[in-house]
Amino acid sequence: MSLGARRCLGLVALLAGLLAADAGVTSPYRRKLEATADMPLDADVFRVPPGYNAPQQVHITLGDQDGTAMIVSWVTPNELGNSTVMYGGAPDKLELRAEGVHTRYDYFNYTSGFIHHCFLKNLKHRTKYYYAMGFGHTVRTFWFTTPPKPGPDVPYKFGLIGDLGQTFDSNITLSHYEENGGDAVLFVGDLSYADNHPLHDNNRWDTWGRFAERSVAYQPWIWTAGNHELDFAPELGETAPFKPFTHRYPTPHRAAGSTEPFWYSVRMASAHVIVLASYSAYGKYTPQWAWLQDELARVDRKVTPWLIVLMHSPWYNSNSYHYMEGETMRVQFERWLVDARADLVLAGHVHSYERSHRVSNVAYDIINGKSTPARDAAAPVYVTIGDGGNIEGIADNFTQPQPSYSAFREASFGHATLEIKNRTHAYYAWHRNQDGAKVVADGVWLTNRYWLPTQDDTN
Ligand SMILES: [Fe+2]
Repeated sequence: MSLGARRCLGLVALLAGLLAADAGVTSPYRRKLEATADMPLDADVFRVPPGYNAPQQVHITLGDQDGTAMIVSWVTPNELGNSTVMYGGAPDKLELRAEGVHTRYDYFNYTSGFIHHCFLKNLKHRTKYYYAMGFGHTVRTFWFTTPPKPGPDVPYKFGLIGDLGQTFDSNITLSHYEENGGDAVLFVGDLSYADNHPLHDNNRWDTWGRFAERSVAYQPWIWTAGNHELDFAPELGETAPFKPFTHRYPTPHRAAGSTEPFWYSVRMASAHVIVLASYSAYGKYTPQWAWLQDELARVDRKVTPWLIVLMHSPWYNSNSYHYMEGETMRVQFERWLVDARADLVLAGHVHSYERSHRVSNVAYDIINGKSTPARDAAAPVYVTIGDGGNIEGIADNFTQPQPSYSAFREASFGHATLEIKNRTHAYYAWHRNQDGAKVVADGVWLTNRYWLPTQDDTN
């Protein structure tokens, strides 16, 4: 073979390799299609804890921006009881005390139990605390470990879960996450799917609270509001959006300088996490727009190298389900996230899994016609993790062909984890429910966009 021919063949091989590297993967994995039914009301995961007026639906979330406060919430079903939490370093040494508040709400023909929220502050970082509530009736004791002090090389492992619901599949998702063992969950919205039941049956908010307790009583979950949190039902006379969600799931929004619980931020270990609200106004001059502009200026990558953004409705989604619903928010904020060198954007809403390449679509100016997403090393990776396994079933109708921005997509239920190792490297892994929990169905090493913005976008 002549040198020229060999060069030519080499060029062809190189081009083929480049094209292969460029093409996204639509996973050939085919799950068995079956109905996704909510677990029955008498399922053991919904069991009411024994004892008169026993606290139930216990859950915690961060109470401040730096992990030295925790909000503890629970429901008492029979009577108010008290809102006190006792806590300390050992189960028999609960020497600290905090007084909480309580609330209730009516929703059409439903009246909630007594919902307690108690704010524990001045906690030490990376410290295990035991806590108990229900004094005077039935006392229950739990524990959590506070996140480590924010710092550039502090490792931390997040669970990434969305659109969980309370089906048999939801139960598998949660069990697999527990087996994989994260420190905290970044939850991208759509919790209970109570609104899929007649009259938005709010008893399904209670069952969900009891179901999720086994994880969220022991580690903070960071909440994002999804469309199933709206519970907006004028036909029932229920016109206050987010009524059950806001009564039940507080967020540390005031500590983050936000005016609403739906958009806020927290810092955990080496991550700065920004939560955005897909179902609150985000146009120019709105409170969320103004807050995000200020918030991005507050991010200090020397302290928290990893900038992670949560929202419910994805900006990059090649599933026909909810196709382009996130587009207006993308147009509003994408430039800011690219300029800020955000590392990872997590969304839910689409009941399927998808990971993007590092792309941006910010060149378009309505005249130039440049409306195609382009590879951009400054851009975040977008992950749709709305595959928690809720009652609405899987979204298995991807657009064809797979767009170039889409790196991997699969119509299966599952969850993901993000293991931050240090300021430069984090390992992201997606786990489908049909495999053993530890099996990685899609895994990539991410390099930090501020400290080591190398080409990490090869598969
Ligand atoms: Fe949704």
